[in-house]
Amino acid sequence: MTDYRLLEEQVRGLLSDESDPIANAANFAALVYGEIPDVSWAGFYYADPEGELVLGPFQGRPACARLPKGRGVCGAAFLRREILVVDDVSQFADHIACDSAARSEIVVPLVVDNSAYGVFDLDSALLRRFIPDDQRGIESLVKTFVSLTPRPKRNEKESLPFGKNPVRKTPR
Ligand code: SME
Repeated sequence: MTDYRLLEEQVRGLLSDESDPIANAANFAALVYGEIPDVSWAGFYYADPEGELVLGPFQGRPACARLPKGRGVCGAAFLRREILVVDDVSQFADHIACDSAARSEIVVPLVVDNSAYGVFDLDSALLRRFIPDDQRGIESLVKTFVSLTPRPKRNEKESLPFGKNPVRKTPR
C-alpha cells in the first residue's frame, strides 16, 4: 500500500522552495508516477479560455494534446469540480482513450477559490486500481500541490503558450 503521509512530506520537500508552476507540476507528476505503484500515466491538463483542456507536464506515454470542453473523465471532473474515480474505463461512456492500455483512472480538479483551472489525471493498466485509500491520499497530495504552486499565467497578448499553434510552415 502507498504511504501517502511519506509522499505528502516528499511533495512538500520537492515544491516548497520553488514557485515556478511548470517546474513544480513536472516534479509533482514525476514523483507521483514513480512512487505510486501500477500507475501508467500521471499528468496535468490546464483549461484554455474556451474551456478545452490542454496537456501539461506529465509522465508516461504521449497523450492527447487537447480534450474538448466537458469531454472525457477529465472534462467531467473539471466541470463538476469533483474528484472522479473510474474503476473500469470501458464502462464510462465518455472516456477518452489516449492510451489503449488504461483500464482505470482517477481525476482530481485543480481548484482555487471555488474555481477550477485544470485537472491532475492518473491512469492505471489495472482495473479498480484506485481504492478509497488512494482517492483520499491523491486528493490530499493535489491539494498540497495547489497550495504550494501558483496557477500558471496565460499570456493575454499572444495566445501562447495556451493557444492553438499559430506557427505555420511556409513553403520555401
Ligand atoms: N482518459 C482521459 C483522457 C486523458 S488521458 O487518460 C491521459 C479522459 O477520459 O478524460
